[in-house]
Formats: sequence, C-alpha cells, structure tokens
Amino acid sequence: EKGGWSSFMRKEVSEQPEAVSNTLLGRVDEGRVVIPELADFGDDELRAIRRITVIACGTAAYAGMVAKYAIEQWARVPVEVELSHEFRYRDPVLDADTLVVSISQSGETMDTLMAVKYAREMGARTISICNTQGATIPRESDAVVYTHAGPEVAVASTKAFVAQIAALYLFGLHLARVRGTLGPDELAAQLAELQAVPEKLRTVLEQIDRVGQLAHWMADTRSVLFLGRHVGYPIALEGALKLKELAYIHAEGFAAGELKHGPIALIEPGQPVFVVVPSPRGSANLHQKVVSNIQEIRARGARVIAIAEAGDAAVLPFADEVLRIPLAAPLFEPLLAVVPLQIFAMELAQAKGLDVDQPRNLAKSVTVE
Ligand code: M6R
Repeated sequence: EKGGWSSFMRKEVSEQPEAVSNTLLGRVDEGRVVIPELADFGDDELRAIRRITVIACGTAAYAGMVAKYAIEQWARVPVEVELSHEFRYRDPVLDADTLVVSISQSGETMDTLMAVKYAREMGARTISICNTQGATIPRESDAVVYTHAGPEVAVASTKAFVAQIAALYLFGLHLARVRGTLGPDELAAQLAELQAVPEKLRTVLEQIDRVGQLAHWMADTRSVLFLGRHVGYPIALEGALKLKELAYIHAEGFAAGELKHGPIALIEPGQPVFVVVPSPRGSANLHQKVVSNIQEIRARGARVIAIAEAGDAAVLPFADEVLRIPLAAPLFEPLLAVVPLQIFAMELAQAKGLDVDQPRNLAKSVTVE
C-alpha cells in the first residue's frame, strides 16, 4: 500500500536508506562479510574464478556496470557486463572458470532467465542477485543473494537498484577477502563506507523539494543529456533511462570522456546537461577532466546541472545548478548521485501530469523475450 505517499515511486525512492541497510543486515560481522547463501561456493572455487560475466537488463544492468568497477578494483578479477538478450544470442565464451552473476529485481525477466539457463547448459556456475523470494531466476541458479529492498511496485526501479549495488559490493568484498586481494584493514574500511551509505542517502533525500522545483522549471524540456565518468558513467545512463521511461523525454547518457568523440556536436545554447562530478578526493585527475568537460559544454551554451560532493567549489563558476551529495569514497558515490536523478525524472513526469507508477507501454516485469 502507498501509505499516504502520492505514488509508489515516491514511497520507494524514500525507502532507499532501508533498502540498503536491510540488504547489509546480518551480512557484516566484525569487519568481515558473511553470506551464508553462498555456502555452496567454497573458497577454493571462488579463488579459481578467472572471469565474471554479469547478465541483466535495464536498470539492473547499470547496477552491474557500477559493480564492475568495484569488483575489479577489490578482487582483481575481470568483470564483463552484458545485456541478457545480447549474451544469449552471441555464442559467448563460457567455461567452468567463468562465474555468471545475474541481476534481476523481479527474478522473472525472461531475457535474463533464458541467459541463466543457457550459461548453466554451457557449464558455468551461476549466482543470482534477486529481490523476490522464490522467483524463477534464483530457482534456476546455483545460489542466490537476495536484496532486501522490500516489494517494488512502481515500474521504474529505484530502491532495488541501490540494494543491488549493495549486494554486489558485499559479494565483491567477500571475493577480495577469499582471494587475498584486500587486507583486513582495507576490507573493514570499505565495509564501513558501505554501512555509512543509508545515513548519507537520508541526507540526499532532504533535497527532494529543490530537485522538484528544478524539474518543474524544466517541464517543457525536449531533450536532456547526462554525462558521467568511471562509476558516474552508469549513473548517467540510469538518469537518462529514468527520464525516458517516466517523462517520455528524449535523454541520452554518455561517458564524459566520449564527448569529443561525437556527442559534443549535440550541444547548442540552452541544452540541459546533467554532469555527475567525481570527488576531487578520489582521482584529482579525473575530477579535473570532468570539470574541463563542463567548461567545454558551457562554452557552447549548455545549461549545466552538476551533481557534486559537498564542498567541491571547482564546479561553481561553470554550473547553472549544483546538487550536492555527502562526502563518500569514490566507489560509493553512485549510490548517492543516482537519487537526485530519480527524483528529477519522477517530478518532471508529475509536472507533465503523467502516471509515474505506471508509465505507458511498460510492464514491471518483462516476462516475454
Ligand atoms: O526485474 P528486473 O530487474 O529483471 O528488470 C529489469 C528491467 O526490465 C528493469 O530494470 C527496467 O529497466 C526498469 N523499468 C527500469 O526502471
């Protein structure tokens, strides 16, 4: 039930702190990850993995893209992320050393289910990240790590997305311990960052009115671009997807480094561009590059809405609007930066008088191929 909220989506956006904390609940113990559901995957097996292939669709695939950066950095194992429908039909190279991780909120997405079945037939071991107890995909997998986001009713995925990233990060840290790629102190530090996310999400949610106002001013916008780099790149893609599906506005997400390879030609005076700015405390170089991108598009008349960490003053001279997120280690920023983008799409759809819970032409779970 909506319980007093104007929409399920509004409710689910607000439930994101709990979606993350419930997903972590009982899985962190004294600086260590404990995932009893993975008991079947012994340490020897996890050490022997040569490659991880993540399969998912839509928002779940973007959660996989975020996790790729973290798992590769922590566990030093190559991760590829593939859309389930592309994976299934391209004769992928799979063997017993490949771990296939599927991500699905519903656990019923036909494209992902077929890909999981195919991977098993090819001899790969499969883990499912799923939000729905007893759904088909977990039943067809060797093991399941449930996200505990609670039922997600709105067609647009929000709280399941942050819970998926949290579950994948737990898995990545577990893998890093087993494979010996992170020491105990580093592991404990990353886990502390993860556990701090729910409180930081609460802070981000306090800006809901400000983002709503921005969306109302922009209700007549015909096209919006989103730029991000590193873990901000999948967030740019997710911001664009949300805007397409909820507000029926043309939206594109790009890797910021790709601008000069084509997309900058799209910039004309008045073009709104959201830019996810990485923290200057991570890679100063990366931060500087994204700030330069902002200068380049601003010089061509773009209207820049920056999502930047609190205190980052470098964006101020060039951005028309700055939405702030609390300080977090670089890999944890996407969990926070996505929220203003979800709210923006939801509020813009509402400003246009659209049904945010049930956008046209879409189903909550896509059970046909
Ligand atoms: O249930 P699933 O996570 O497998 O669904 C995957 C996509 O269909 C889903 O994330 C879709 O992209 C959402 N409507 C996005 O908000």
